[in-house]
Amino acid sequence: MDNAAALRAVTAELEDLAGELPLTEAARDIVPGEGSPIAEILFIGEAPGYHESIERRPFVGRSGKLLRQVISEIDLEKGQYYISNIVKARPPENRDPEPEEILAYRPFLNKEIEILAPKLVVTLGRFSMAKFLLDVKISQVHGRLHQVDWLGKRLFVLPMYHPAAALRSTKMKEAFIKDMQKIPKVLSWIKEQENVETLAESVKSLLF
Ligand code: URA
Repeated sequence: MDNAAALRAVTAELEDLAGELPLTEAARDIVPGEGSPIAEILFIGEAPGYHESIERRPFVGRSGKLLRQVISEIDLEKGQYYISNIVKARPPENRDPEPEEILAYRPFLNKEIEILAPKLVVTLGRFSMAKFLLDVKISQVHGRLHQVDWLGKRLFVLPMYHPAAALRSTKMKEAFIKDMQKIPKVLSWIKEQENVETLAESVKSLLF
């Protein structure tokens, strides 16, 4: 199965389980991830809000407009990224997701990560950051690249403030934009690392 088909299968499975999954009554309540099936960058938000749940697309409301505007300002191409959420249905009154909701949707986000095998994961807000980074404060680590061991695989994670928080405070908006502007450089650095590692592997295989 190619990536696009595998990602469609994740959505189909979510829709089949609607009614059993928290916050859902029917397939229409599921807001699947969207973007390039060969994305190098995976943005992970928290949970869909009102507009997302109507359009069934992640990040299409006010905070989504900010996110997508900055993505285009830093010249990321559509083929480079995928956008998803920790929880794939809307919590009432946009309250924070509950631990059991995060747990219920975890296998689906994990599958998206496995399929995409992104070079860089950008977490938006503290809930998606907490999936990868334990015992840290977003105010202290935002905009700093982290290398984590995720289910036995290396993953690069760049935590950021949630764009909704950026809309509430000028200071956070400045930090959010500044952090987002780091993405192209960070991505190039990760690719260089990979090239160096591949080169080292081939030298090793020549020598031994
Ligand atoms: N906020 C999120 O975390 N995700 C969305 O999809 C929209 C708003």
